[in-house]
Amino acid sequence: MTSLIINGQPLRFDIDPQTPLLWALRDAANLTGTKYGCGTGDCGACTVEIDGHAILSCQVSIRALEGAFITTIEGLSNDRSHPVQQAWVAENVTQCGFCDPGMIMAASVLLKQNKNPSDAQIDAALPHVCPCGVLPRVRRAVKRAAAIMAGSGGVAPVPPPDIPPAEAARAVPALKARP
Ligand code: FES
Ligand code: FES
Repeated sequence: MTSLIINGQPLRFDIDPQTPLLWALRDAANLTGTKYGCGTGDCGACTVEIDGHAILSCQVSIRALEGAFITTIEGLSNDRSHPVQQAWVAENVTQCGFCDPGMIMAASVLLKQNKNPSDAQIDAALPHVCPCGVLPRVRRAVKRAAAIMAGSGGVAPVPPPDIPPAEAARAVPALKARP
């Protein structure tokens, strides 16, 4: 049994402790916002925040995370109002959207550590693979998020249709992940 705090909710995982966090999130906790891209630590799609750091969830087993505080894209805000989410919308970053959760999580961690990152610092913090080619917009969005955090440039959060924001931010215990 492995206990983690995910999006503010204590969850116990009755699964193999060697299980990568990515699959504990997606298969046991039903938090499918965190994406599987490569599984080898190369693409960044699976990035989550663990104890204040941007971590590739495909590369760490839950056994190594006992008691850790984890934030996934579902827990970043309860109404899509996080400055990075606002900036993603304002800069029309999304193309297919597959890489967005990982990049948004990496960007939110970056902005906790650096309130005015340069292009080079953004590129270093978000070395993510995006076949759709949105990285120029990502740079603009991260800088816009920094401006929003500094008090300007915000936009109203826009929930997707048919998904109440409160639902999207809720960790959903399922099968072998129990509160
Ligand atoms: S799925 Fe983890 S880095 Fe690609
Ligand atoms: S927007 Fe499609 S992979 Fe990045």
